Amino acid sequence: MARGLYLCSILLSVFPLFFAGPAHRHGSLGRRVFANGNWTLLQQGTTGVSGMQLAIVSETTAIIYDKVEHNPLTVNGHVAWSVEVDLSTLTVRALNPLSNSWCATGSFLGNGTLVNSGGNPVVITGANGLQAIRMFTPCDDKTCDVFEDPNHIHLTSNRWYPSSIRIEDGSIIIYGGSVGGGYINSNSINNPTYEFFPPKNINGYNGVQIPSQFLLNTLNGNHFPIMIYLPDGTIFVAANQDAMIFNWQTNTETALPGIPNGVRITSPFSAGATLLPLTPENNYTPEVMICGGSTVSDSVSPSTISSQVPASAQCSRLVLNESGIAAGWQVEHMPQARVMPELVLLPDGRVLIVNGAQTGVAGYGNVANRVGQSNADNPAFTPVVYDPSAPAGGRFSDVGIPATNIARLYHSTASLTPNGTIMLAGSNPNDDVTTTKYPTEYRMEFYSPPYMAKPRPTYTGLPATVNYGEVFTLTVDLPPTATNASVSLMDLGFATHAVHMDQRLLKLVCSLSDDGTTLTVTGPSTARLYPPGPAYLYIVTDEGVPSFGHKTIIGTGGSPPVDGDAAANMLKASVGSFVTPPPPPAEGEGSNVATAVIPAPSS
Ligand SMILES: *[C@@H]1O[C@H](CO)[C@@H](O)[C@H](O)[C@H]1NC(C)=O
Ligand SMILES: *[C@@H]1O[C@H](CO)[C@@H](O)[C@H](O)[C@H]1NC(C)=O
Ligand SMILES: *[C@@H]1O[C@H](CO)[C@@H](O)[C@H](O)[C@H]1NC(C)=O
Ligand SMILES: *[C@@H]1O[C@H](CO)[C@@H](O)[C@H](O)[C@H]1NC(C)=O
Ligand SMILES: *[C@@H]1O[C@H](CO)[C@@H](O)[C@H](O)[C@H]1NC(C)=O
Repeated sequence: MARGLYLCSILLSVFPLFFAGPAHRHGSLGRRVFANGNWTLLQQGTTGVSGMQLAIVSETTAIIYDKVEHNPLTVNGHVAWSVEVDLSTLTVRALNPLSNSWCATGSFLGNGTLVNSGGNPVVITGANGLQAIRMFTPCDDKTCDVFEDPNHIHLTSNRWYPSSIRIEDGSIIIYGGSVGGGYINSNSINNPTYEFFPPKNINGYNGVQIPSQFLLNTLNGNHFPIMIYLPDGTIFVAANQDAMIFNWQTNTETALPGIPNGVRITSPFSAGATLLPLTPENNYTPEVMICGGSTVSDSVSPSTISSQVPASAQCSRLVLNESGIAAGWQVEHMPQARVMPELVLLPDGRVLIVNGAQTGVAGYGNVANRVGQSNADNPAFTPVVYDPSAPAGGRFSDVGIPATNIARLYHSTASLTPNGTIMLAGSNPNDDVTTTKYPTEYRMEFYSPPYMAKPRPTYTGLPATVNYGEVFTLTVDLPPTATNASVSLMDLGFATHAVHMDQRLLKLVCSLSDDGTTLTVTGPSTARLYPPGPAYLYIVTDEGVPSFGHKTIIGTGGSPPVDGDAAANMLKASVGSFVTPPPPPAEGEGSNVATAVIPAPSS
């Protein structure tokens, strides 16, 4: 652990009051102070393609991936399904991936390249994306595009609805999904395996897919598993009603207590989830929170499910250390039930719960009484903000937060922006572009928390890369009323289907000079606390007002390790399904899933 780790823990003694109450059970996060006032909501700009998948890629740009559908925006003479959004001008630039990114996942590598992987067979135009790897390296000059080289770079096997996570060596794990589409996973389409990108030779699997018992145990409702990288280098994984600790170095799974009260939490019963802030005050003890979902059965025909069946209002927190696991999930309730909510970490340490529906399930075209094609109804129009550091009973608030009138149901997204607003995009519970209720949604919205209207701190001097334990100094300009500042280092992640891959807030150790103009900050102590890769650094005043989050890369910015032999073996074991027609089923490792029959797309 880095020097000065406990510096910020002085905070504990400033607020002893809050450690006597029930909050203590949930871990000592340190009661925080927030800027108060009303929130504002602005509808501004359109995305041109629907916002199914969203990631901030630079201080001024975001990328959106959609499915191939009849979007108004075109590129190279065909419909577009990906754009770069300029967050200052709110204009979009069409990108030109080769393959269909329908229900893909995304994670940044340690060198800052965003890897979008998995997807769907050909629709309208474009290549089959089931085994695709799409790479996007952000640029300042608006010339960069999505790069695909399907002959040399592809997944081991078909993956529709997988999740992904960046790990401590800057590579990523792509986990689960189905070999073909459908409302829900099942034995016949399950892909109960995971893989690394770049491919690794590990545990006897030389670049090929590695089996996961958990992905068998959690059928049927286990699309887009929830994955969170933990400070000990293991991964928290939750799907359906189960949770476990996954050790990727040994390929072992250790069961955790299941989700309480029969609530299912992954697609099509999508809950939102996040790691709560890792702080010096809580000794970087990881605590996860999962909100919403549904208690609907995962083994009935969706035609017996109603779009009016209430979603779950349950939020469950689990502290991931010995005593926390022994104490089990701590349950509380959101003011509104939600399926498909997004949990967005704010730089002030709170969580904004936004988007989703109060009834029904994810997907479209399945339930009997669908609304248009939507399996869900009763959009949750009012976000609620959650303060994990407040005593139980006083954590949720929607006071001063205006409701939207734009439904953000299936295939909607949300992300914090570098400036501190929360961007909402998408919703398209439809097979193709539709204008009837609930329509294909292109309008962007931006929520501004009260801190956006306050005098903001500013800073300069952030290095382009910050290595582990590196001490650096920022020149800061705090508003006159502020007397101190802290540092929130944030991974803004990749949002899709209510799952927010890699989202993270790590509070860094720092100290402010007596004259209040220099902040000395220590980078994350280990790659397990913050896996190498892009980060946005917000300084937050003691009044709860964050600066603009400037971008840096944690680590060296170097590329993840490449094992040429593992990559070659992967290519030998698995012919990309979009390169040539899949070969007939062959004996041997890794071939069964890659060549499985692809059912017709249904959601
Ligand atoms: C100022 O904030 C830092 C970071 O949170 C903390 O370590 C330090 O104790 C604070 N100083 C005072 C005087 O409160
Ligand atoms: C687990 O974490 C909680 C919250 O940070 C802390 O209060 C508790 O002492 C920790 N327990 C163990 C066994 O480390
Ligand atoms: C916040 O909004 C409420 C309701 O619209 C209004 O009554 C109140 O004056 C507003 N407060 C501020 C500080 O603007
Ligand atoms: C950030 O937000 C503030 C407050 O809304 C605004 O004045 C400023 O122009 C924004 N900055 C950027 C770079 O978008
Ligand atoms: C990052 O690493 C990947 C995998 O090796 C590579 O394909 C990509 O080009 C690298 N990106 C940069 C910006 O170097």
